[in-house]
Amino acid sequence: MCGIVSYVGEEPKATRLLLQGLKSLEYRGYDSSGIALLNDTLSVYKNKGKILDLEKSLSTLSDEEREKLDQSICGIGHTRWATHGEPSDINAHPHMDSDGTIAVVHNGIIRNYIKLKKELIYKGYTFKSDTDTEVIANLFSYIRKDLIAKGEYEDFLAMRLLSSRLEGSYALAILLNESVNPNTTQPAKRILLAKHESPLVIGVGQSENFAASDSDTVLQFTDSIIRLADREFAVISKNTIDIQDFEGNMIKPVIEVLKKNDSLMDKKGYKHFLLKEINEQPTVLSKMLSLIEDSTYENFKLINFNINFAEIEKIYCIACGSAYHSAQALKYILGSWCSLPVDVIVASEFNFQHKLIGERDLLIGVSQSGETADTILALQKAKSAGARLLAITNRPASAINNLCGANTYITPADLEISVASTKAYTSQLMAHYLLALQIATARKAISREFFTDILHNLKTLPVLLDQMLNRANHYKAAAVNFAGYRDFIFLSRGINHTTAMEGALKLKELSYAHASAYPSGELKHGPIAILDENVPVISIAIPSIYPDEQIIYEKIIHNALEAKTRKSPSILLTTDSNQDHVEEFDLVMRIPDIDQLFSPILATIPLQFLAYFIAENLGKDVDQPRNLAKSVTVE
Ligand code: F6R
Repeated sequence: MCGIVSYVGEEPKATRLLLQGLKSLEYRGYDSSGIALLNDTLSVYKNKGKILDLEKSLSTLSDEEREKLDQSICGIGHTRWATHGEPSDINAHPHMDSDGTIAVVHNGIIRNYIKLKKELIYKGYTFKSDTDTEVIANLFSYIRKDLIAKGEYEDFLAMRLLSSRLEGSYALAILLNESVNPNTTQPAKRILLAKHESPLVIGVGQSENFAASDSDTVLQFTDSIIRLADREFAVISKNTIDIQDFEGNMIKPVIEVLKKNDSLMDKKGYKHFLLKEINEQPTVLSKMLSLIEDSTYENFKLINFNINFAEIEKIYCIACGSAYHSAQALKYILGSWCSLPVDVIVASEFNFQHKLIGERDLLIGVSQSGETADTILALQKAKSAGARLLAITNRPASAINNLCGANTYITPADLEISVASTKAYTSQLMAHYLLALQIATARKAISREFFTDILHNLKTLPVLLDQMLNRANHYKAAAVNFAGYRDFIFLSRGINHTTAMEGALKLKELSYAHASAYPSGELKHGPIAILDENVPVISIAIPSIYPDEQIIYEKIIHNALEAKTRKSPSILLTTDSNQDHVEEFDLVMRIPDIDQLFSPILATIPLQFLAYFIAENLGKDVDQPRNLAKSVTVE
């Protein structure tokens, strides 16, 4: 989703740093990019397509224009993910006001932009693009001119007036050409920032300052950051950082010193970030197990949540996409270990259900980025309904961590650059097992023997996963057979319905093929109609030592065979030593022997590889699939 980067300093390196910053925001997903530089006048350069396309067009500029780029000490940059207006050169950010005296980059959505646009057109402003952002540029221009005419112009006042007219979410960076305001005493080279429900952090340097949509982008340039809170403005110049809230109170900046992040864009020799991240999964899982705060049966604690789990009557889990799939596993685990009801709800569908939440219920929000607008909104609603909140996120510097405070578990998966989630997803699965263990022990719902057995099984997962990475070529060979198909069905039941959904999503995201997942019992209630020799069916069937789960396994096999009788190419995903019915499938993919209850993490790996190799075979953009965004910061 849209990314912002800004730089103001004294060395002529704005262009280079803006482009570097934009490249580190590419992972968020985008369709166009641009920069604006403030010299004597404002100059905007922007393009549909990749940052590489922007760089190419910059390299064709005249010597005079190049000189401007090379001398700039102040600028803003943007990667755009289209919401209002198709991806195009014109709709790309930065946007300027009609007079060319203001340049704006924006992340978020202005809901009332049509009304404001009509008002501004009436006042004589003109518009070039279809975006909501251009309205901000013209509205700010109008407010500024008015204040200058009255001799009352001041940055924070102007921004307060601006935000009082904007409805929606926005992170903004604004550049001003001061030639229209010759009497100002403020530094000419400064950047105005605003944060309202979209992420924005400031980086503090020596005689230079930065701002960006995420802390990792800023941490490439400096180790000191200031997290802007919601409803705050800032004005940064090379030597000053002033912050004020939307009510007009000055805010004392709190500077955090973090570890500098030099290697953000390093693929470490892998062809794609996705492949690197698949390969990082054993390390992430080991780290999670080593960070358990107390692993005794009496007092098991993943972390010290400030929640009495023994009192909880019901759990609601809200999340989107892969995080939503992972939460389905928590439902099965808690249902099986302590008969605790868990409702898993897509965050954007939570709107009315918060009214059902009682005081003894717990709401768990799961989000890799911690910035997903739908998930944040659902958590806010649940909070105002009095529910207890718990969050699982991968990003410590995130809105969701801010909202849930000490009741936030941070998965140590580190930054996930590839847009399609892999290591963050499996770390969420592991978090669900560990959280379930904490809840089950707090409720004295499982025996010491079962507890020991669970921990033993979880501890084997990183080792088995590590071994599985050596099978990449085996999964590649399988993938190549299926690259030509356009429709896929994924089947499973019980806990691996989670895996089926995630496998189908990975395939859709990476290869753009259509893929649907069903609990296998649903097949004959409709989906079977589409089956023929052009629709492969991938069935995930993992045996179990527990009788209830073994019945699930047997039913999946029978449903898979029903699909085969409709001529569908059939793929079975099962364990190494399982020989049951395997000869009846066209292809068998295997994972190391593991019980069904603990299998979703391992069973996901072949499906990640399948999606990766099919996409690669088709020549797709693996790390940045079309239309997708990494942090979905709009509803
Ligand atoms: C899938 C994927 C998305 C995200 C979803 C939620 O590969 O990455 O489906 O899982 O957009 O994002 P977070 O977890 O950041 O809230």
